[in-house]
Amino acid sequence: MDDKIFKALNEQIKLEFYSSYLYLSMASYFENIPLDGMGKWFRKQSREENEHGMKIFDYIIDRNLHVDLPAIDKPTVVFNSIHEIFLLALKHEQKVTHSIHQLYELAMEQKDYATKVFLEWFITEQVEEEKNAQDNLDLIQLIGDDRAALLVLDQDFQKKAD
Ligand SMILES: [Fe+2]
Ligand SMILES: [Fe+2]
Repeated sequence: MDDKIFKALNEQIKLEFYSSYLYLSMASYFENIPLDGMGKWFRKQSREENEHGMKIFDYIIDRNLHVDLPAIDKPTVVFNSIHEIFLLALKHEQKVTHSIHQLYELAMEQKDYATKVFLEWFITEQVEEEKNAQDNLDLIQLIGDDRAALLVLDQDFQKKAD
């Protein structure tokens, strides 16, 4: 495997684990309010991001290489509003999509067909991730200051997280 691709894959593991950390931090905020449905939903996102990181971890090993895990950055821990969190979650998913696309371009440049095919799962996944993040943000904007609607929405998140 080309060294640039190897480094970028290790960095992508870091980004997926950072995502896991960020969503865990958001889960903590919600469960303190307490909007437990949203908290559970972000806990579930956190677990899924961990699985994404592990998929890349396994892929590097399958290519007979030793994973070089970078340090994970500290996630955002101070949030000022529910809206801010959902906006941040969307922006974060867009950032991850960009990173995956860059990796894909690198794999094409280097004619690394195996990595290219491997990354296609992530490209599809990001469409779903961005859709969910955008839908969540739209719903939060739709309900505005309606607290009763917020509690109903929290129950919907609870169901989605089960
Ligand atoms: Fe991910
Ligand atoms: Fe994600």
